[in-house]
Formats: sequence, C-alpha cells, structure tokens
Amino acid sequence: MTPPARDGMPDEGIPGTTGDRRISRKNVLKAALAVGTAPLLVGGGVALARDASYGGRLLVPTPACDDGDDPTPPQMEGPYFRPNSPRRTSLVTAGTPGVPLTVSGYVFGRACRPVPGVLLDFWQADANGAYDMSGYAFRGHQFTGANGAFTLTTVVAGLYPGRTRHIHVKAQAPGRPVLTTQLYFPNEPRNSTDSLFDPALLMNVRTAGNGRQGTFDFVLDIAQTPGPTDPPTDPPTDPPGGTWSAGTSYRAGDRVTYGGVAYRCLQGHLAMGGWEPPNVPALWERG
Ligand SMILES: [Fe+2]
Repeated sequence: MTPPARDGMPDEGIPGTTGDRRISRKNVLKAALAVGTAPLLVGGGVALARDASYGGRLLVPTPACDDGDDPTPPQMEGPYFRPNSPRRTSLVTAGTPGVPLTVSGYVFGRACRPVPGVLLDFWQADANGAYDMSGYAFRGHQFTGANGAFTLTTVVAGLYPGRTRHIHVKAQAPGRPVLTTQLYFPNEPRNSTDSLFDPALLMNVRTAGNGRQGTFDFVLDIAQTPGPTDPPTDPPTDPPGGTWSAGTSYRAGDRVTYGGVAYRCLQGHLAMGGWEPPNVPALWERG
C-alpha cells in the first residue's frame, strides 16, 4: 500500500473510509447531531458515544475529552482580510464561475461539545485566484446554529502565486478571542511547497456531481463545563442550583437562575449539558 503523500490525505467524506483517523467520541457526537438526534444527548449521549459500534469498531469509554482533538491551530491572517463582511452563508449566485463547493461542519469546544453562536467569517480568492479588495465578493460571515453547525456555499478557491489552495476564516465564540486560521484542500500539489500549509487544517473533500463537498470541524480552545454525558467527577461538588435545567426547551424571554445569577433567554433552544447560561452568551444574558 502506498503511503499517503506528504501533501495530502485521502478523501474522508465517506464513513468507513477514514483511514487511520480514529473514530472519536466527537465524531460520534457529530454523527448524532447530523441525523437530528441531538436531543437524545441530553442525559442519553453516553450510550451513543461509548457503547455504539460505529464503522465496525467498538467504542470504549473515554474518561474525558481526550480523543486527539487538539484545538484548531491558528494561521496568519494574510493581507486580504476586510472587516464588515456581509452576513450570508452563500458567497455565490447561479452564474458564479468556478467549481461549486460546500464546506460544512461543527464548532466544538475542548470538551467536544458543540458551541452555538460562533461567528465564522470566511474570505477567499475567486476561481481565478483574485481577492476582491474593493467589495465583498467571496467574503461573508455567519453564526453556528444551536447545534454548533455551519455550512458555507462557495466555489473552490483559485490558486494565486506563492500559495496552495486555501480558504481563510476567523472563528469567535461569544466573548472569546478570535481564532484566525486557514482551511486547505487535500491532494493539492502545492501543499508540499507552501510553508504555511498545515495538515491539521485539511478539509475532507469529496466530489459530488459537478462540485465538491468539504467538511471541517473547528475545535476552539474554550473550556466547557462537563455535562451529563461526561463521567461524574468526584466527589460531586455543590450543584450551582437555580431553575435552569438541561433538557428543558426555553423560549426567548424566559427567565432562569443559575449559580445564584438571573438570566434571560435570548433565543429559543433545547438546553443541553455544557450550555449552562454562563457558558453560552448567545443564548442567555444576565438580567
Ligand atoms: Fe489567501
């Protein structure tokens, strides 16, 4: 078997073809999210994550979120960022030249829990390798949904001198520092000669019709409170108390208390472990 080239990794968009990449707890959580079973994770995610056989492998209990998901590494911003991009998930119209590309995935924190309300600001070259420095073509920001998911609709970024193919992105959870980084395409000849290229930032890309489907999951370096899907810590500490509880559907305007602090719900959601009011400013504000 030929070892993978230095500059690329096999396409990994199809379950069961992920090569040596471990089936991680995060990936199973992601699979559960993708099929819409996220609510089951409230108090029931342990069975999904630890007991299910996935891809022919038996998953073993993990004492903590230690499945190899280091935080997504930062990269330089480069000279082509412009602030104040429009809020949109699609950077193209029906007539935009280029190979259609979707990039989708999730944003997780260090405890492998999805992070809602994360600002993702993408910018890239057009199919000819040019950045729009006077307008906002191929620039756009969006926010992850309640399940931490995002989808970007664009075209495959063009090549320009000195760089391999890439997409720039800034990721920022509410009230947290900005992660500036870049995403790369597998099997690109220039990956081996671009000094910025980092295989940790490779998307999984597969062909779909006349286009490409890319996936990438961000892991932000933010602490997350262990929730009901994590093993208990010992001994149990004093519960923070309050009226907030995981598993409850809250509506905008609902009021709860947590840890002796009053919060008001900003947008409707199903509360999950890890989404305690102090942890998710996108969902709760004090008051
Ligand atoms: Fe660039």
